[in-house]
Amino acid sequence: MAKSTVISQTRSSLPGPQGLPLLGGKVGMLQLYQQPVTYLRHMYNTYGDIVVVTKNDPMFVFAFGPQYNFRLLSDPDLFHVSTDKTFKKVPHGTALTRLWFNNLQRMNGDQHKQQRRLMMPSFHKKQIVHYHNDMIDQTQRMLDQWQANTGSELNLLLEMQRLTQAVTVKTLFGLDDDVKVKSLGDQMQNLVKITSLGLLIPIDFPGSPYRQALKAAQKFEAEIRAIIEQKRAQPEATDVMAMLIQAHDEDGEKLNEDNLIGHAFALYVAGHETTANALTWTHFLLEQHPHSLADLLDELDAKLHGAPPTIEQLSQLPLLESVVKESMRLFPPAMAGLRITTEACELGGFELAANTNIMYSEFITHRMPELYEEPDRFKPERWLALDRSPYEYLPFSAGHHMCIAASFAMQELKIVLAMMLQRYRLAVRPNVKISTNLRMHAQPGMPVRIFAQDRQFKRTPVRGPIQSMVDIR
Ligand code: HEM
Repeated sequence: MAKSTVISQTRSSLPGPQGLPLLGGKVGMLQLYQQPVTYLRHMYNTYGDIVVVTKNDPMFVFAFGPQYNFRLLSDPDLFHVSTDKTFKKVPHGTALTRLWFNNLQRMNGDQHKQQRRLMMPSFHKKQIVHYHNDMIDQTQRMLDQWQANTGSELNLLLEMQRLTQAVTVKTLFGLDDDVKVKSLGDQMQNLVKITSLGLLIPIDFPGSPYRQALKAAQKFEAEIRAIIEQKRAQPEATDVMAMLIQAHDEDGEKLNEDNLIGHAFALYVAGHETTANALTWTHFLLEQHPHSLADLLDELDAKLHGAPPTIEQLSQLPLLESVVKESMRLFPPAMAGLRITTEACELGGFELAANTNIMYSEFITHRMPELYEEPDRFKPERWLALDRSPYEYLPFSAGHHMCIAASFAMQELKIVLAMMLQRYRLAVRPNVKISTNLRMHAQPGMPVRIFAQDRQFKRTPVRGPIQSMVDIR
């Protein structure tokens, strides 16, 4: 793909909302946080593929579509994933910074390349076969617990979060003790919850959010160090942590203990909510499209006869693969991503200063009618014949920071869906208001009733912003 030619423009000629001179940008940021999908769509429809949200320092720009995805994601020296200026007030060298800042999503350049190379074998197709049984076991447990609740209502999002959390912790640390698996999962969940405020206002006094986060991080870090110690004595172990401990490059370079801790925590953060959202949306879309659901169940019954899929069978279920792909096209769990310019450069014919924040969007790209016919419709069968480039279809992003665990996630999504659908039918609560952002809803999640799988497929009427996001017929 050719780089666009440099056309010098003044900043004032950049397209974007005029807003209030001082507050315009902040109002935009608030809208982006509260209603990301609606706001991104509005910006693209109103201003086109390059939009300036704020001209203040730092400047904040949206760049939409495959050519900008390519530009931003394939030039990691010019477009960094993070900068040292973020969280610059947070004291370094603490358990909290070791947990949050030692991970691939905060690393650039040679450091990122070296650490990612060491981590890759843990997520290689041959290695993730070892996680297959853990994924099946954890799913089976959840489905068995549902048995007693047949006919009653569950919050599907919460159920999926619990499941993906258990799968992540189990595959990460390979622990047999379920109580320990749950306790580590709960600790990480709690850390995610309490840390954002602590990092934003890093003031240390008794009872402050920062102090609480620091204490929780210290406790968690001590437990992980103990696990690492045990793992060093188990060279035969095949869990992710064991693989990371053993990893070394051709010069014998290994991940140090701080990196191991940071990567482990980041894998948890990056892995479970994304997968839980994808599972929740896929169920919702299937429930709203009874024909697609019936076709999928035919495929599962014919191939699996009620059993969980084996590794070989996972690649022999084309409709299941298409359903997952189509669901993540309509609702990519990561709707948008950010890059930061390391020096002044041009983008789309406009000059951008160093340190400009640029947001690209998987969601907007996936809804472009020039790439996808009837983009708002759920049509899994389109994937049986459609081929799209990595910058046109990118639920796992693309380029140097593409999700390291894309195959792991696809394996997990397919196993959970195949097992759940064969055993249960889920019915969304009638007339429930569904937000486009599961997280921001007043009552987050997706209320569903569960029934034994009886093939009585029927679309439930739903309300709310969802109706403008999917064309359900
Ligand atoms: C459906 C599930 C998932 C989706 C949609 C997803 C999506 C993504 C996306 C969009 C990125 C790139 C962000 C960027 O370019 O800045 C990413 C990166 C990453 N993901 Fe995932 N992810 C999923 C599951 C997982 C799982 C299960 C794990 C770990 C067990 C994981 C670990 C990571 C890591 C470590 C990175 C950073 C890679 C790097 O910066 O080099 N993800 N993911």
